[in-house]
Amino acid sequence: EKGGYDHFMLKEIYEQPKAVSDTLIPRLKDKDIIIDELGMTDEEIKRIRKIYIIACGSAYHTGVTAKYVFEGLARIPVEVDLASEFRYRNPIFEPDTFAIIVSQSGETADSLAALREAKAHHIKTLGIVNVVGSSIAREADNVMYTWAGPEIAVATTKAYSTQLIAQYLLALKFAKVRETIDETTFSSMIDSLKQLPEQISFLLSHKENVQKFANRYLASDHVFFIGRGIDYAISLEGSLKLKEISYIHSEAYAAGELKHGTISLIEDGRLVVAVLTQPDLYKKTISNILEVKTRGAFVMAVTTVGNTQVEKVADYCIYIPETNPYFTNSLAVIPLQLFGYYVALGKGLDVDKPRNLAKSVTVE
Ligand code: F6R
Repeated sequence: EKGGYDHFMLKEIYEQPKAVSDTLIPRLKDKDIIIDELGMTDEEIKRIRKIYIIACGSAYHTGVTAKYVFEGLARIPVEVDLASEFRYRNPIFEPDTFAIIVSQSGETADSLAALREAKAHHIKTLGIVNVVGSSIAREADNVMYTWAGPEIAVATTKAYSTQLIAQYLLALKFAKVRETIDETTFSSMIDSLKQLPEQISFLLSHKENVQKFANRYLASDHVFFIGRGIDYAISLEGSLKLKEISYIHSEAYAAGELKHGTISLIEDGRLVVAVLTQPDLYKKTISNILEVKTRGAFVMAVTTVGNTQVEKVADYCIYIPETNPYFTNSLAVIPLQLFGYYVALGKGLDVDKPRNLAKSVTVE
């Protein structure tokens, strides 16, 4: 059933090139993006004034990334909400607001309640859902399926990757319809998307680099993940992957916030994972690396190939292939998933079924 892998989590990590491709390719036609299931006319897409992205856990982290992509490409303001917060915060529902609910299982109680809240206020809703026919898929006005296939491991990997793809496609589609992107950029971004499955396979074929490193850090008690912009969104997921299955406390911090708190926790030998995939932010995050290094931290950087400045300051570098900066999460998350996996494995823990966690959270 595990197809020769020791755990479902590793099997599902390896299924990512296919899951990404299955979610992406059927929606690319003749150099355009076709999302029939969106059920929106171009006029309706042009009228959107605000987007809410609502989800829990890792699905929420895909929304944090998608905010940068929607705002950057389609110039639509986005608010990302944890479903458990959204439903109780008395949000403002204005006409021309569009709500996207992201959920692997389609059964998460808080996400379902947030969807119902949005619908009760007559806001147009879209579910980005993996399980066909699940509650969120049935109740949302429209549903865009992620074609990750069944995900068994409690810690999500392939569903997360496909949730990113679905939102990249939507953001690009909206940008094209609203004319906030030029033709050349649009088609070069589609080309970048098409390369992702192969680039993910490439990263998977170099997993030993991560495994070796993970084995040195089995005894950590706290780990910090830092990054800016999309790199911060990637850090949130990297940190969750590590803590939920390895039971090592970890925290993701927007790198610029270090000075406002976390830096007091940096001491000799503390592992800091720095994510640097956004060229316009490299220099800023490099100064944060220097700040933690001065205080004794050991820095593992995840950065884009060719970014040699990082090599001079970090203790260990893991490189991802070059892609469009909006899509780096799809690549940078791979070594971070593997890192969580190998730390948990090295500690002899039940990787697929971490204590106290359930695959589908149907109670609030
Ligand atoms: C973490 C993880 C959870 C889920 C969250 C939402 O690895 O899997 O954080 O992302 O419980 O679940 P869904 O997507 O089913 O709504």
